[in-house]
Amino acid sequence: MISNSDISKVIAGVKGQINEQDTSLIVAHLPLLEERLQYLAKSFPSETLHAIAIKTNPHPQMLKHLVGLGYGLEAASIEEVNMAMAAGCAPSKIVFDSPVKTRSEIDCVSGLTDMLVNVNSIGELNRFPSEATCTIGIRVNPQVHTGAPEMFDVSRNESKFGVAISSKQEIINAALAHPVSALHMHSGSQMKDLEVQRGALEALKALADEINATSSGKIHTLDIGGGLPSEPLSDRTRMAEYGAIVHEVFADSQYKLVTEFGQWVHAEAGFALSRIEYVLDESRVFIHLGADFFMRDAYTKARPFALEVWNDTGEFVQGEKSSFDIAGPLCFAGDYLAHGAMLPATTAEGNWLSINGTGANTYALWSRHCSRTVPKCIAFDGVHSSIWSERTTINY
Ligand SMILES: Cc1ncc(COP(=O)(O)O)c(C=O)c1O
Repeated sequence: MISNSDISKVIAGVKGQINEQDTSLIVAHLPLLEERLQYLAKSFPSETLHAIAIKTNPHPQMLKHLVGLGYGLEAASIEEVNMAMAAGCAPSKIVFDSPVKTRSEIDCVSGLTDMLVNVNSIGELNRFPSEATCTIGIRVNPQVHTGAPEMFDVSRNESKFGVAISSKQEIINAALAHPVSALHMHSGSQMKDLEVQRGALEALKALADEINATSSGKIHTLDIGGGLPSEPLSDRTRMAEYGAIVHEVFADSQYKLVTEFGQWVHAEAGFALSRIEYVLDESRVFIHLGADFFMRDAYTKARPFALEVWNDTGEFVQGEKSSFDIAGPLCFAGDYLAHGAMLPATTAEGNWLSINGTGANTYALWSRHCSRTVPKCIAFDGVHSSIWSERTTINY
């Protein structure tokens, strides 16, 4: 988690770079991001390509930063493929996973040598020209229940994603009949049961082995997706546990592995700041970030973000705590970030509220509801804060 001393440094550091319209700020903590990326890389076999999911945090500067550090990018749409290219990512480090690729999108990417393009259905394979130079993968639905929340569980039998592994012979026939050289799966976000995921990995590997046994090694790449919940770094993490499972499952194989993590990488490495605009009845505060930034939280279940209150120069507001509901700025009753949050009783208009751990699925999901301006985005390098992007008016 980002330390309070770094939050304080950012508040003090941005003071000269903002004006009174900057009622909220989105901050990326680059040293923590890099630490997490290195932890991820260290947990997996060394040749693994880690293609970070663009959808989790698509800020163009963030993509450039990830590419500069040598990581790949996973694109869920042709727009994200274009963003990855604009960020300088080599096609060989881009994974394209849209489930609804049009014929013209496929024409666009099929000549991008070594870009991994995963088809969502067998029928999609017919849309590729015979001279395609991209790497074509088939998305397999492992049909497992890893404990992912229902909305993010993409591996149920009726899932819209991929070809069910129960249709094994169909997958094998398609892989043999088309220029397929990869298999892909993503079991869902926030997987809980890693032993179930071990079974899914083993099944994917067995399927690739079976295709290879009749085709002298057509399948060379296995993309195993992302899907771990956010967690702090420590000696014992789910990421380390998962990496150990991957080492075991693929110990005796030559497959090139690809991952597509999103929230595990980003969530802890970002925070947001909002001015406190109103304090009502000593029990409700109104801030400038709500369901526009915390879309998933407002419409599903709010994550338990760590909240702190600061004065204008970055000093911690301390003292006796009291219970507050934190209301966002949008015009609907459900726009609350938290209920019963314990904040200093002296919390007042003009203070900053810091919301820690907001690096994933926030800016990325910015909602147009009420047409509020997207805040300034700031990058903190451990010492300095610099502006990654100015406030942006929504352009309809
Ligand atoms: C195909 C695919 N890969 C990767 C991800 C990233 O998942 P996570 O953020 O849970 O790691 C997603 C998330 O929706 C996805 O759909």
